[in-house]
Amino acid sequence: MNKVDFKGSVVLNPVPVVLITSRNSEGKDNVFTIAWGGTVCTKPPMVSISIRPERLSYEYIKESMEFIINMPSQKIVKAVDYCGVRPGRKFDKIKEMGFTMKEGTHVNAAYIDECPVSIECKVKSITPLGTHDMFVAEVVGSHINEDLMDEKGKIHFEKGDLITYCHGEYYPMSKNAIGSFGFSVAKPKVKKEKADEKTIISKDSSSSDNKKSETKKTSVKTKSTKNKSNKVKSTMVKSKKKTSIKSKKKKHRI
Ligand SMILES: Cc1cc2nc3c(=O)[nH]c(=O)nc-3n(C[C@H](O)[C@H](O)[C@H](O)COP(=O)(O)O)c2cc1C
Repeated sequence: MNKVDFKGSVVLNPVPVVLITSRNSEGKDNVFTIAWGGTVCTKPPMVSISIRPERLSYEYIKESMEFIINMPSQKIVKAVDYCGVRPGRKFDKIKEMGFTMKEGTHVNAAYIDECPVSIECKVKSITPLGTHDMFVAEVVGSHINEDLMDEKGKIHFEKGDLITYCHGEYYPMSKNAIGSFGFSVAKPKVKKEKADEKTIISKDSSSSDNKKSETKKTSVKTKSTKNKSNKVKSTMVKSKKKTSIKSKKKKHRI
């Protein structure tokens, strides 16, 4: 295939598109959309988001050094776009979108309950790059819809109807994986175990789809490497009762 030497922009696509919530020192909350973000470290768990200094959110996050990443589902794709084209200085986007805001556990900001996954972050550094400043932050906890988690503590993001962003367009995330980590070198026995696991999970999800109950959140606290034990403890919140779940899943490293 002949290649075009394209220099117009960064062509790394698709990317996640997420809603960032933050709070200023007067207690005012704001939300905006970003696509220039991602995971930058496994341990300690770190993410980066890049923000133009003229954004209201830039001001809020620089002040508090905290923010929450909210991963939206396809149901609210219009709100995702709206929050990315309307400035918080002129619009109360949280009110207009009718988002249900819940208090963060580890940071002074609120997360959007309509998003199946929310990630609480504390800023560690800010690096000016050009148009954008890159905020590198440590993940200090996450809120995950209970119906995305299985009994082994694995998160089924594919059940979250998530969105990706690709060169100006929003796309639905597919529910069907075309491979899994290490499958290219996996032994036949492991492949069979994986396939069996998948059959069980898809049976489970079709039966739980029929009983559409109110979605509950699982709160996952991420421990920093400063602690002696680096185990990630997951705490399932069921009404007022807390049930501890530990991931039995084999750890993958990237
Ligand atoms: C799909 C999409 C992705 C965006 N990604 C970013 C981004 O990565 N960084 C950024 O600073 N602005 C980004 N924006 C623009 C801001 O979301 C937008 O300017 C917003 O109105 C800023 O809100 P605020 O002033 O209330 O903080 C994006 C907008 C859209 C629609």
